[in-house]
Amino acid sequence: MFILCADIAFSRWQKVTASAAYALSAVPWFATILDNDGLNYDQAGRTRGQERSMSPVIRLEYRNVTMRFAQASGQALTAIQDVSLSVRDGEVVSLIGPSGCGKSTLLNIGSGLYAPSEGQAFVDGERVEGPNAHVAFMLQKDLLLPWRTIAENVMFGVEIQGLPQAERKRRAQALLESLGLADFAGHYPHQLSGGMRQRVALARTLAVDPSVLRLDEPFSAVDAQTRMVLQRELAQTLKRAGKTALLITHDLLEAVTLSDRVLVMSRRPGRIIDEIVVDIPDRDDPLARRKDAKVNAYVNRLMERLGIGETERASA
Ligand SMILES: Nc1ncnc2c1ncn2[C@@H]1O[C@H](COP(=O)(O)OP(=O)(O)OP(=O)(O)O)[C@@H](O)[C@H]1O
Ligand SMILES: [Mg+2]
Repeated sequence: MFILCADIAFSRWQKVTASAAYALSAVPWFATILDNDGLNYDQAGRTRGQERSMSPVIRLEYRNVTMRFAQASGQALTAIQDVSLSVRDGEVVSLIGPSGCGKSTLLNIGSGLYAPSEGQAFVDGERVEGPNAHVAFMLQKDLLLPWRTIAENVMFGVEIQGLPQAERKRRAQALLESLGLADFAGHYPHQLSGGMRQRVALARTLAVDPSVLRLDEPFSAVDAQTRMVLQRELAQTLKRAGKTALLITHDLLEAVTLSDRVLVMSRRPGRIIDEIVVDIPDRDDPLARRKDAKVNAYVNRLMERLGIGETERASA
């Protein structure tokens, strides 16, 4: 999917870079417009004053998004219904919900791969109308190209963006070093473990320097110990680079330990039914967060909102 995005993004690159520059240069104006429109971007219930002291810049926004898919029966399937949410600059937000409630669909809409049936998605204040270079994916499968070395895989997206070769190499090298993969730059994907391959996928995603990272269950295919290591690397990298991210996960502990906020979706048609602001320090250290006394309370609340355990209790 990243490949698809990056491929289509190439033809739109000039437009996109121009509009990104515009969006960033117009930040104060952008914030004012949001205010005038009365948009509720503080779903956590903090006052606007408090909100301003964090970051008023919204990187990703969904406004009243509904998605219907045509089915073979002729009936439309409503995957998501009237979803509004926003993710601020530098914020990490997790999205959790039952299987089939529309989480990936929401991500695909924000990335321009699906056009919503109703409502709109915006990245950096610009309406999303197709795949674009603001966006980078990381999925459950690493989707590395087997005939390319690790360094060449990391450089793939920036190559399509048309970055000069020296800059491509510099970026790839810096990312591989920061993710502990420098010694494997010349290896091929089959020579790496599953966890290392996911790390390469993360490096490739970061290399394109996206406005917003979309992470769709990035660690669900790796073992529990590797997952903890990768979670810490992701958290540190996001914090260091000041990146904004929307993370889909079924792992409630992962959601709590990696995020500033967790949004809970209902069963299909998916709606946002709860929001938890994670009030624990050290967002860049999920291992430390795991030990915080508040974690269990957050996870329990998420379990309750998802109705986990209720079916079993009812039928017991
Ligand atoms: N391209 C498509 N065409 C038709 N239906 C689709 C399409 N993509 C998704 N759907 C349907 O929309 C619903 C939501 O799917 P989606 O993949 O977004 O769920 P999800 O929350 O990501 O689930 P999971 O947690 O299992 O990954 C499902 O019923 C799915 O069958
Ligand atoms: Mg999904």
